[in-house]
Amino acid sequence: MTIDNTEGARAQIGVTGLAVMGSNIARNFARHGHTVALHNRSIAKTDALIEEHGSEGDFVRTETIEEFVGALQKPRRVLIMVKAGAPTDAVIEELAAAMEPGDIIIDGGNALYTDTIRREASLRERGLHFVGAGISGGEEGALNGPSIMPGGPKESYAALGPLLESIAAQVDGTPCCTHIGPDGSGHFVKMVHNGIEYADMQLIGEAYNLLGSALGYDAGKIADVFTEWNGGDLESYLVEITAEVLRQKDAKTGKPLVDVIVDAAEQKGTGRWTVKSALDLGVPVTGIAEAVFARALSGSREQRKAAVGLASGVLADKPTDAAQFTEDIRQALYASKVVAYAQGFDQIAAGSAEYDWDLHPADLATIWRGGCIIRARFLNRIKDAYDENPTLPSLILAPYFRDAIETAIDSWRRVVSTATLLGIPVPAFASSLSYYDALRAERLPAALTQGQRDFFGAHTYERVDAEGKFHTLWSGDRSEVQV
Ligand code: 6PG
Repeated sequence: MTIDNTEGARAQIGVTGLAVMGSNIARNFARHGHTVALHNRSIAKTDALIEEHGSEGDFVRTETIEEFVGALQKPRRVLIMVKAGAPTDAVIEELAAAMEPGDIIIDGGNALYTDTIRREASLRERGLHFVGAGISGGEEGALNGPSIMPGGPKESYAALGPLLESIAAQVDGTPCCTHIGPDGSGHFVKMVHNGIEYADMQLIGEAYNLLGSALGYDAGKIADVFTEWNGGDLESYLVEITAEVLRQKDAKTGKPLVDVIVDAAEQKGTGRWTVKSALDLGVPVTGIAEAVFARALSGSREQRKAAVGLASGVLADKPTDAAQFTEDIRQALYASKVVAYAQGFDQIAAGSAEYDWDLHPADLATIWRGGCIIRARFLNRIKDAYDENPTLPSLILAPYFRDAIETAIDSWRRVVSTATLLGIPVPAFASSLSYYDALRAERLPAALTQGQRDFFGAHTYERVDAEGKFHTLWSGDRSEVQV
Protein backbone atom coordinates (compact mmCIF):
# COMPACT_ATOMS: atom_id res chain seq x y z
CA MET A 1 0.00 0.00 0.00
CA THR A 2 1.30 3.46 -0.82
CA ILE A 3 0.58 5.95 1.90
CA ASP A 4 -0.08 9.52 0.96
CA ASN A 5 2.67 11.61 2.43
CA THR A 6 0.20 14.23 3.62
CA GLU A 7 -0.70 11.77 6.39
CA GLY A 8 2.31 13.07 8.29
CA ALA A 9 5.33 11.54 9.89
CA ARG A 10 4.49 7.89 10.18
CA ALA A 11 7.30 5.87 8.59
CA GLN A 12 9.55 3.93 10.98
CA ILE A 13 12.44 3.90 8.53
CA GLY A 14 13.47 5.72 5.39
CA VAL A 15 15.61 4.28 2.62
CA THR A 16 17.41 6.52 0.15
CA GLY A 17 19.22 5.04 -2.83
CA LEU A 18 16.90 2.57 -4.50
CA ALA A 19 19.21 0.54 -6.72
CA VAL A 20 18.81 -3.22 -6.25
CA MET A 21 20.32 -3.45 -2.74
CA GLY A 22 18.43 -0.41 -1.47
CA SER A 23 15.11 -1.40 -2.94
CA ASN A 24 15.43 -4.99 -1.69
CA ILE A 25 16.16 -3.80 1.84
CA ALA A 26 13.23 -1.37 1.67
CA ARG A 27 10.97 -4.26 0.62
CA ASN A 28 12.40 -6.42 3.40
CA PHE A 29 11.46 -3.73 5.98
CA ALA A 30 7.98 -3.39 4.47
CA ARG A 31 7.44 -7.15 4.41
CA HIS A 32 8.18 -7.14 8.14
CA GLY A 33 5.38 -4.70 8.82
CA HIS A 34 7.38 -1.48 8.96
CA THR A 35 6.21 1.61 7.11
CA VAL A 36 9.05 2.63 4.81
CA ALA A 37 9.63 6.09 3.36
CA LEU A 38 11.29 5.88 -0.03
CA HIS A 39 13.63 8.36 -1.65
CA ASN A 40 15.83 8.30 -4.69
CA ARG A 41 17.64 10.96 -6.66
CA SER A 42 15.45 10.17 -9.66
CA ILE A 43 11.79 9.53 -8.81
CA ALA A 44 11.52 6.92 -11.58
CA LYS A 45 13.20 4.27 -9.38
CA THR A 46 10.87 5.06 -6.48
CA ASP A 47 7.84 4.76 -8.74
CA ALA A 48 9.10 1.54 -10.27
CA LEU A 49 9.53 0.00 -6.81
CA ILE A 50 6.04 1.06 -5.76
CA GLU A 51 4.49 -0.15 -8.99
CA GLU A 52 6.16 -3.56 -8.89
CA HIS A 53 6.18 -4.25 -5.16
CA GLY A 54 3.82 -1.74 -3.55
CA SER A 55 1.53 -4.56 -2.47
CA GLU A 56 4.21 -6.06 -0.21
CA GLY A 57 3.73 -3.50 2.57
CA ASP A 58 3.43 0.18 3.47
CA PHE A 59 5.59 2.55 1.42
CA VAL A 60 5.62 6.33 1.53
CA ARG A 61 6.56 7.91 -1.80
CA THR A 62 8.63 11.07 -1.40
CA GLU A 63 10.38 13.29 -3.91
CA THR A 64 12.47 15.82 -2.02
CA ILE A 65 14.78 15.26 0.94
CA GLU A 66 12.60 17.56 3.07
CA GLU A 67 9.50 15.55 2.21
CA PHE A 68 11.41 12.33 2.91
CA VAL A 69 12.65 13.46 6.30
CA GLY A 70 9.19 14.87 7.10
CA ALA A 71 7.63 11.43 6.54
CA LEU A 72 9.63 9.82 9.36
CA GLN A 73 8.71 9.17 12.98
CA LYS A 74 11.17 10.51 15.55
CA PRO A 75 13.91 9.70 16.19
CA ARG A 76 14.18 9.62 12.42
CA ARG A 77 16.01 6.66 10.97
CA VAL A 78 17.35 6.87 7.45
CA LEU A 79 19.27 4.12 5.69
CA ILE A 80 21.57 5.34 2.92
CA MET A 81 22.24 2.80 0.16
CA VAL A 82 24.32 4.81 -2.29
CA LYS A 83 27.82 4.46 -3.73
CA ALA A 84 30.70 4.69 -1.23
CA GLY A 85 32.82 7.84 -1.26
CA ALA A 86 31.68 11.26 -2.50
CA PRO A 87 28.05 10.26 -3.27
CA THR A 88 27.66 9.07 0.34
CA ASP A 89 29.09 12.33 1.70
CA ALA A 90 26.72 14.34 -0.48
CA VAL A 91 23.61 12.47 0.71
CA ILE A 92 24.73 12.66 4.36
CA GLU A 93 25.13 16.41 4.07
CA GLU A 94 21.67 16.89 2.55
CA LEU A 95 20.07 14.69 5.19
CA ALA A 96 21.94 16.24 8.10
CA ALA A 97 20.75 19.68 7.05
CA ALA A 98 17.13 18.51 7.21
CA MET A 99 17.36 16.37 10.37
CA GLU A 100 17.34 17.16 14.09
CA PRO A 101 19.51 16.14 17.04
CA GLY A 102 18.86 12.55 18.07
CA ASP A 103 18.04 11.43 14.52
CA ILE A 104 19.97 8.48 13.06
CA ILE A 105 21.68 8.19 9.69
CA ILE A 106 22.73 4.66 8.74
CA ASP A 107 25.22 4.04 5.94
CA GLY A 108 24.55 0.53 4.66
CA GLY A 109 27.13 0.61 1.85
CA ASN A 110 30.63 -0.84 1.81
CA ALA A 111 32.26 2.34 3.14
CA LEU A 112 35.91 2.53 4.14
CA TYR A 113 35.88 2.40 7.94
CA THR A 114 38.16 5.42 8.29
CA ASP A 115 35.56 7.45 6.34
CA THR A 116 32.95 6.17 8.78
CA ILE A 117 35.07 7.25 11.75
CA ARG A 118 35.34 10.74 10.23
CA ARG A 119 31.62 10.99 9.40
CA GLU A 120 30.55 9.76 12.82
CA ALA A 121 32.71 12.32 14.58
CA SER A 122 31.45 15.19 12.47
CA LEU A 123 27.76 14.24 12.80
CA ARG A 124 28.17 13.68 16.55
CA GLU A 125 29.19 17.32 16.83
CA ARG A 126 25.86 18.21 15.22
CA GLY A 127 23.94 15.99 17.64
CA LEU A 128 23.15 13.34 15.02
CA HIS A 129 23.84 9.62 15.33
CA PHE A 130 25.78 8.08 12.50
CA VAL A 131 25.76 4.32 12.15
CA GLY A 132 28.11 2.66 9.66
CA ALA A 133 26.46 -0.69 9.08
CA GLY A 134 28.07 -3.49 7.12
CA ILE A 135 25.39 -5.44 5.28
CA SER A 136 26.23 -8.76 3.71
CA GLY A 137 24.29 -11.22 1.65
CA GLY A 138 24.06 -9.62 -1.76
CA GLU A 139 20.76 -8.86 -3.45
CA GLU A 140 19.05 -12.02 -2.27
CA GLY A 141 20.18 -11.48 1.34
CA ALA A 142 19.01 -7.87 1.30
CA LEU A 143 15.52 -9.05 0.42
CA ASN A 144 15.24 -12.20 2.50
CA GLY A 145 17.56 -11.67 5.44
CA PRO A 146 21.10 -10.29 5.40
CA SER A 147 23.75 -10.34 8.09
CA ILE A 148 23.96 -6.81 9.49
CA MET A 149 26.98 -5.30 11.29
CA PRO A 150 25.97 -1.90 12.68
CA GLY A 151 28.58 0.23 14.44
CA GLY A 152 28.11 3.73 15.81
CA PRO A 153 26.88 5.07 19.13
CA LYS A 154 25.46 2.42 21.44
CA GLU A 155 22.46 4.69 22.32
CA SER A 156 21.34 4.62 18.69
CA TYR A 157 21.00 0.84 18.82
CA ALA A 158 18.05 1.05 21.22
CA ALA A 159 16.01 2.82 18.52
CA LEU A 160 17.53 0.99 15.58
CA GLY A 161 18.39 -2.53 16.74
CA PRO A 162 14.87 -3.99 16.79
CA LEU A 163 14.20 -2.73 13.26
CA LEU A 164 17.43 -4.16 11.87
CA GLU A 165 17.10 -7.41 13.79
CA SER A 166 13.61 -7.91 12.38
CA ILE A 167 14.88 -7.96 8.78
CA ALA A 168 18.15 -9.85 9.40
CA ALA A 169 18.65 -13.55 8.76
CA GLN A 170 17.87 -15.71 11.80
CA VAL A 171 19.83 -18.78 12.90
CA ASP A 172 18.38 -20.91 15.72
CA GLY A 173 16.11 -17.99 16.60
CA THR A 174 19.04 -15.56 16.90
CA PRO A 175 19.15 -12.61 14.52
CA CYS A 176 22.29 -12.18 12.44
CA CYS A 177 22.63 -8.61 13.64
CA THR A 178 24.12 -7.08 16.75
CA HIS A 179 25.66 -3.79 17.78
CA ILE A 180 29.32 -4.19 16.85
CA GLY A 181 30.96 -1.24 18.60
CA PRO A 182 31.64 2.49 18.26
CA ASP A 183 32.14 4.64 15.14
CA GLY A 184 33.76 2.74 12.23
CA SER A 185 33.79 -0.72 13.82
CA GLY A 186 30.79 -2.02 11.83
CA HIS A 187 32.38 -1.17 8.51
CA PHE A 188 35.77 -2.44 9.70
CA VAL A 189 34.26 -5.80 10.59
CA LYS A 190 32.41 -5.93 7.25
CA MET A 191 35.68 -5.15 5.48
CA VAL A 192 37.41 -8.09 7.19
CA HIS A 193 34.37 -10.25 6.39
CA ASN A 194 34.95 -9.41 2.73
CA GLY A 195 38.67 -10.15 3.08
CA ILE A 196 37.81 -13.59 4.44
CA GLU A 197 35.33 -13.95 1.56
CA TYR A 198 38.20 -13.31 -0.89
CA ALA A 199 40.39 -15.94 0.82
CA ASP A 200 37.56 -18.46 0.90
CA MET A 201 36.83 -17.92 -2.81
CA GLN A 202 40.51 -18.20 -3.74
CA LEU A 203 40.87 -21.46 -1.78
CA ILE A 204 37.79 -22.89 -3.47
CA GLY A 205 39.25 -21.76 -6.80
CA GLU A 206 42.51 -23.56 -6.07
CA ALA A 207 40.63 -26.74 -5.13
CA TYR A 208 38.65 -26.52 -8.37
CA ASN A 209 41.83 -25.99 -10.38
CA LEU A 210 43.54 -28.99 -8.75
CA LEU A 211 40.57 -31.25 -9.39
CA GLY A 212 40.61 -30.14 -13.02
CA SER A 213 44.35 -29.95 -13.69
CA ALA A 214 45.70 -32.78 -11.52
CA LEU A 215 42.81 -35.23 -11.81
CA GLY A 216 41.40 -34.20 -15.18
CA TYR A 217 37.85 -33.74 -13.87
CA ASP A 218 35.43 -31.70 -15.97
CA ALA A 219 33.23 -28.96 -14.52
CA GLY A 220 30.26 -31.31 -13.98
CA LYS A 221 32.35 -33.83 -12.09
CA ILE A 222 33.93 -31.08 -9.98
CA ALA A 223 30.43 -29.77 -9.21
CA ASP A 224 29.56 -33.22 -7.84
CA VAL A 225 32.65 -33.15 -5.61
CA PHE A 226 31.66 -29.73 -4.20
CA THR A 227 28.09 -30.90 -3.63
CA GLU A 228 29.42 -33.86 -1.68
CA TRP A 229 31.76 -31.64 0.34
CA ASN A 230 28.84 -29.38 1.14
CA GLY A 231 27.30 -32.26 3.06
CA GLY A 232 30.15 -32.23 5.59
CA ASP A 233 32.41 -29.85 7.55
CA LEU A 234 32.82 -27.59 4.53
CA GLU A 235 29.09 -26.87 4.32
CA SER A 236 28.81 -23.22 3.37
CA TYR A 237 27.10 -20.83 1.01
CA LEU A 238 30.23 -20.39 -1.12
CA VAL A 239 30.78 -24.15 -1.57
CA GLU A 240 27.08 -24.59 -2.38
CA ILE A 241 27.04 -21.88 -5.08
CA THR A 242 30.35 -23.15 -6.47
CA ALA A 243 28.59 -26.40 -7.42
CA GLU A 244 25.76 -24.41 -9.00
CA VAL A 245 28.10 -22.21 -11.03
CA LEU A 246 30.07 -25.26 -12.19
CA ARG A 247 26.90 -27.06 -13.26
CA GLN A 248 25.61 -24.15 -15.33
CA LYS A 249 25.73 -24.74 -19.09
CA ASP A 250 26.35 -21.93 -21.56
CA ALA A 251 23.25 -21.51 -23.74
CA LYS A 252 25.32 -20.42 -26.75
CA THR A 253 27.95 -23.16 -26.88
CA GLY A 254 26.53 -25.90 -24.70
CA LYS A 255 29.81 -25.92 -22.77
CA PRO A 256 30.02 -25.44 -19.01
CA LEU A 257 29.57 -21.70 -18.45
CA VAL A 258 32.73 -21.54 -16.34
CA ASP A 259 34.75 -22.64 -19.38
CA VAL A 260 33.62 -19.65 -21.44
CA ILE A 261 34.06 -17.01 -18.73
CA VAL A 262 37.29 -14.98 -19.07
CA ASP A 263 39.67 -16.01 -16.27
CA ALA A 264 40.42 -12.49 -15.00
CA ALA A 265 38.90 -11.79 -11.59
CA GLU A 266 37.77 -8.27 -10.80
CA GLN A 267 37.50 -6.56 -7.43
CA LYS A 268 35.68 -3.57 -6.06
CA GLY A 269 38.23 -2.90 -3.34
CA THR A 270 37.21 -4.28 0.05
CA GLY A 271 39.79 -7.10 -0.12
CA ARG A 272 42.51 -4.58 -0.93
CA TRP A 273 41.35 -2.40 1.97
CA THR A 274 41.58 -5.39 4.31
CA VAL A 275 45.17 -6.07 3.32
CA LYS A 276 46.19 -2.40 3.54
CA SER A 277 44.68 -2.16 7.01
CA ALA A 278 46.36 -5.42 8.05
CA LEU A 279 49.71 -4.06 6.91
CA ASP A 280 49.17 -0.96 9.06
CA LEU A 281 48.11 -3.06 12.02
CA GLY A 282 51.01 -5.47 11.51
CA VAL A 283 48.77 -8.53 11.24
CA PRO A 284 49.76 -11.26 8.77
CA VAL A 285 46.64 -11.98 6.74
CA THR A 286 48.52 -14.09 4.21
CA GLY A 287 45.46 -15.96 2.93
CA ILE A 288 43.56 -12.76 2.19
CA ALA A 289 46.62 -11.09 0.67
CA GLU A 290 47.27 -14.07 -1.61
CA ALA A 291 43.65 -13.93 -2.71
CA VAL A 292 43.86 -10.22 -3.57
CA PHE A 293 47.16 -10.75 -5.41
CA ALA A 294 45.80 -13.81 -7.23
CA ARG A 295 42.96 -11.67 -8.60
CA ALA A 296 45.49 -9.03 -9.65
CA LEU A 297 47.67 -11.63 -11.37
CA SER A 298 44.68 -13.13 -13.16
CA GLY A 299 43.86 -9.67 -14.46
CA SER A 300 47.38 -9.07 -15.85
CA ARG A 301 46.27 -10.43 -19.17
CA GLU A 302 49.09 -9.07 -21.34
CA GLN A 303 51.79 -10.36 -18.99
CA ARG A 304 50.13 -13.74 -18.73
CA LYS A 305 49.80 -14.03 -22.49
CA ALA A 306 53.49 -13.28 -22.92
CA ALA A 307 54.46 -15.83 -20.26
CA VAL A 308 52.48 -18.80 -21.60
CA GLY A 309 54.94 -21.52 -22.59
CA LEU A 310 57.63 -20.67 -20.05
CA ALA A 311 59.50 -23.67 -18.64
CA SER A 312 57.28 -25.81 -16.44
CA GLY A 313 59.83 -28.14 -14.85
CA VAL A 314 57.15 -30.63 -13.95
CA LEU A 315 58.67 -33.25 -11.63
CA ALA A 316 55.85 -35.64 -10.90
CA ASP A 317 53.16 -37.72 -12.53
CA LYS A 318 49.54 -36.92 -11.84
CA PRO A 319 48.04 -38.64 -8.80
CA THR A 320 46.77 -42.11 -9.59
CA ASP A 321 44.48 -42.51 -6.60
CA ALA A 322 41.82 -39.93 -7.46
CA ALA A 323 39.68 -40.65 -4.42
CA GLN A 324 42.63 -40.17 -2.05
CA PHE A 325 43.76 -36.98 -3.76
CA THR A 326 40.22 -35.58 -3.71
CA GLU A 327 40.07 -36.23 0.01
CA ASP A 328 43.50 -34.59 0.40
CA ILE A 329 42.20 -31.49 -1.37
CA ARG A 330 39.13 -31.41 0.89
CA GLN A 331 41.34 -31.55 3.96
CA ALA A 332 43.72 -28.91 2.58
CA LEU A 333 40.77 -26.66 1.83
CA TYR A 334 39.42 -27.02 5.35
CA ALA A 335 42.79 -26.43 7.05
CA SER A 336 43.58 -23.41 4.85
CA LYS A 337 40.13 -22.03 5.54
CA VAL A 338 40.76 -22.28 9.28
CA VAL A 339 43.98 -20.29 8.75
CA ALA A 340 42.14 -17.60 6.73
CA TYR A 341 39.51 -17.17 9.45
CA ALA A 342 42.14 -17.24 12.19
CA GLN A 343 44.01 -14.44 10.43
CA GLY A 344 40.82 -12.43 9.86
CA PHE A 345 39.89 -12.73 13.54
CA ASP A 346 43.45 -11.67 14.47
CA GLN A 347 42.95 -8.54 12.38
CA ILE A 348 39.65 -7.85 14.12
CA ALA A 349 41.35 -8.18 17.52
CA ALA A 350 44.14 -5.83 16.39
CA GLY A 351 41.63 -3.27 15.03
CA SER A 352 39.67 -3.49 18.25
CA ALA A 353 42.80 -2.78 20.30
CA GLU A 354 43.99 0.00 18.01
CA TYR A 355 40.67 1.88 18.04
CA ASP A 356 39.52 0.85 21.50
CA TRP A 357 36.37 -0.78 20.15
CA ASP A 358 36.00 -3.72 22.56
CA LEU A 359 34.86 -6.08 19.80
CA HIS A 360 33.58 -9.54 20.73
CA PRO A 361 34.69 -12.25 18.30
CA ALA A 362 32.00 -14.71 19.45
CA ASP A 363 29.32 -12.16 18.52
CA LEU A 364 30.75 -11.81 15.05
CA ALA A 365 30.90 -15.56 14.53
CA THR A 366 27.25 -15.65 15.67
CA ILE A 367 25.99 -13.04 13.19
CA TRP A 368 28.04 -14.51 10.33
CA ARG A 369 26.31 -17.90 10.69
CA GLY A 370 23.49 -16.75 8.43
CA GLY A 371 22.67 -14.18 5.77
CA CYS A 372 26.22 -13.28 4.75
CA ILE A 373 28.42 -14.53 1.94
CA ILE A 374 30.83 -16.39 4.24
CA ARG A 375 28.08 -18.17 6.17
CA ALA A 376 29.24 -21.66 6.95
CA ARG A 377 28.64 -24.52 9.30
CA PHE A 378 32.03 -24.11 10.92
CA LEU A 379 31.15 -20.60 12.19
CA ASN A 380 29.29 -22.45 14.94
CA ARG A 381 32.64 -23.96 15.90
CA ILE A 382 34.28 -20.53 15.86
CA LYS A 383 31.51 -19.17 18.08
CA ASP A 384 31.99 -22.09 20.50
CA ALA A 385 35.75 -21.53 20.54
CA TYR A 386 35.43 -17.85 21.45
CA ASP A 387 32.57 -18.49 23.89
CA GLU A 388 34.89 -20.86 25.71
CA ASN A 389 37.89 -18.55 25.58
CA PRO A 390 37.18 -14.95 24.50
CA THR A 391 40.91 -14.13 24.51
CA LEU A 392 42.02 -17.13 22.47
CA PRO A 393 45.50 -16.21 21.12
CA SER A 394 44.63 -17.76 17.74
CA LEU A 395 41.66 -19.69 16.44
CA ILE A 396 44.11 -22.38 15.37
CA LEU A 397 44.77 -23.07 19.07
CA ALA A 398 41.13 -23.85 19.92
CA PRO A 399 40.95 -27.59 20.66
CA TYR A 400 38.46 -28.29 17.86
CA PHE A 401 40.54 -26.56 15.17
CA ARG A 402 43.80 -27.88 16.54
CA ASP A 403 42.45 -31.41 16.12
CA ALA A 404 40.99 -30.64 12.70
CA ILE A 405 44.37 -29.42 11.46
CA GLU A 406 46.12 -32.40 13.00
CA THR A 407 43.78 -34.63 10.99
CA ALA A 408 44.34 -32.57 7.83
CA ILE A 409 48.07 -31.91 8.04
CA ASP A 410 49.35 -34.86 5.98
CA SER A 411 46.81 -34.22 3.24
CA TRP A 412 47.61 -30.51 3.29
CA ARG A 413 51.31 -31.19 2.77
CA ARG A 414 50.61 -33.74 0.02
CA VAL A 415 48.40 -31.26 -1.83
CA VAL A 416 50.88 -28.39 -1.64
CA SER A 417 53.84 -30.56 -2.60
CA THR A 418 52.02 -32.38 -5.40
CA ALA A 419 50.74 -29.09 -6.82
CA THR A 420 54.26 -27.68 -6.69
CA LEU A 421 55.77 -30.72 -8.41
CA LEU A 422 53.08 -30.57 -11.08
CA GLY A 423 53.45 -26.82 -11.61
CA ILE A 424 49.87 -26.00 -10.54
CA PRO A 425 49.59 -22.67 -8.69
CA VAL A 426 48.24 -22.92 -5.14
CA PRO A 427 49.21 -19.57 -3.58
CA ALA A 428 46.61 -19.60 -0.82
CA PHE A 429 46.99 -23.30 0.09
CA ALA A 430 50.79 -22.95 0.18
CA SER A 431 50.98 -19.68 2.07
CA SER A 432 48.45 -20.90 4.63
CA LEU A 433 50.53 -23.99 5.24
CA SER A 434 53.69 -21.89 5.57
CA TYR A 435 51.91 -19.58 7.99
CA TYR A 436 50.91 -22.59 10.07
CA ASP A 437 54.45 -23.96 10.01
CA ALA A 438 55.88 -20.58 10.99
CA LEU A 439 53.37 -20.13 13.79
CA ARG A 440 54.17 -23.49 15.34
CA ALA A 441 57.96 -23.24 14.87
CA GLU A 442 60.08 -22.99 18.00
CA ARG A 443 62.67 -20.84 16.25
CA LEU A 444 62.31 -18.61 13.21
CA PRO A 445 64.97 -17.11 10.95
CA ALA A 446 63.95 -13.74 12.36
CA ALA A 447 66.98 -14.10 14.66
CA LEU A 448 69.17 -13.77 11.57
CA THR A 449 67.14 -10.79 10.36
CA GLN A 450 67.82 -9.09 13.69
CA GLY A 451 71.53 -9.87 13.37
CA GLN A 452 71.62 -8.37 9.87
CA ARG A 453 69.75 -5.26 11.01
CA ASP A 454 72.18 -4.83 13.84
CA PHE A 455 75.11 -5.30 11.45
CA PHE A 456 74.13 -2.65 8.92
CA GLY A 457 72.10 -0.27 11.04
CA ALA A 458 73.00 -0.83 14.71
CA HIS A 459 69.30 -1.56 15.26
CA THR A 460 70.05 -3.78 18.31
CA TYR A 461 68.59 -7.17 19.25
CA GLU A 462 67.32 -8.99 22.32
CA ARG A 463 69.03 -12.10 23.71
CA VAL A 464 67.36 -15.38 24.63
CA ASP A 465 69.23 -15.44 27.93
CA ALA A 466 69.19 -11.85 29.23
CA GLU A 467 66.88 -8.83 29.55
CA GLY A 468 67.52 -5.66 27.57
CA LYS A 469 68.75 -4.61 24.13
CA PHE A 470 72.16 -5.49 22.76
CA HIS A 471 74.44 -4.41 19.93
CA THR A 472 77.54 -6.07 18.52
CA LEU A 473 80.36 -3.70 17.52
CA TRP A 474 80.44 -5.15 14.00
CA SER A 475 82.97 -2.71 12.57
CA GLY A 476 85.03 -2.73 15.76
CA ASP A 477 86.26 -5.66 17.79
CA ARG A 478 82.88 -7.44 17.53
CA SER A 479 82.34 -7.49 21.22
CA GLU A 480 78.77 -7.02 22.49
CA VAL A 481 77.48 -4.01 24.37
CA GLN A 482 74.19 -3.56 26.18
CA VAL A 483 72.33 -0.46 25.05
C1 6PG B 1 28.60 -9.21 0.66
C2 6PG B 1 29.57 -9.03 -0.49
C3 6PG B 1 29.34 -7.70 -1.15
C4 6PG B 1 29.92 -7.58 -2.54
C5 6PG B 1 31.40 -7.52 -2.57
C6 6PG B 1 32.00 -7.96 -3.87
O1 6PG B 1 29.09 -9.38 1.77
O2 6PG B 1 27.40 -9.20 0.41
O3 6PG B 1 30.88 -9.07 -0.03
O4 6PG B 1 29.76 -6.72 -0.27
O5 6PG B 1 29.44 -8.57 -3.37
O6 6PG B 1 31.77 -6.18 -2.36
O7 6PG B 1 33.31 -7.65 -3.80
P1 6PG B 1 34.29 -7.70 -5.02
O8 6PG B 1 33.63 -7.03 -6.19
O9 6PG B 1 35.46 -6.92 -4.54
O10 6PG B 1 34.55 -9.14 -5.27
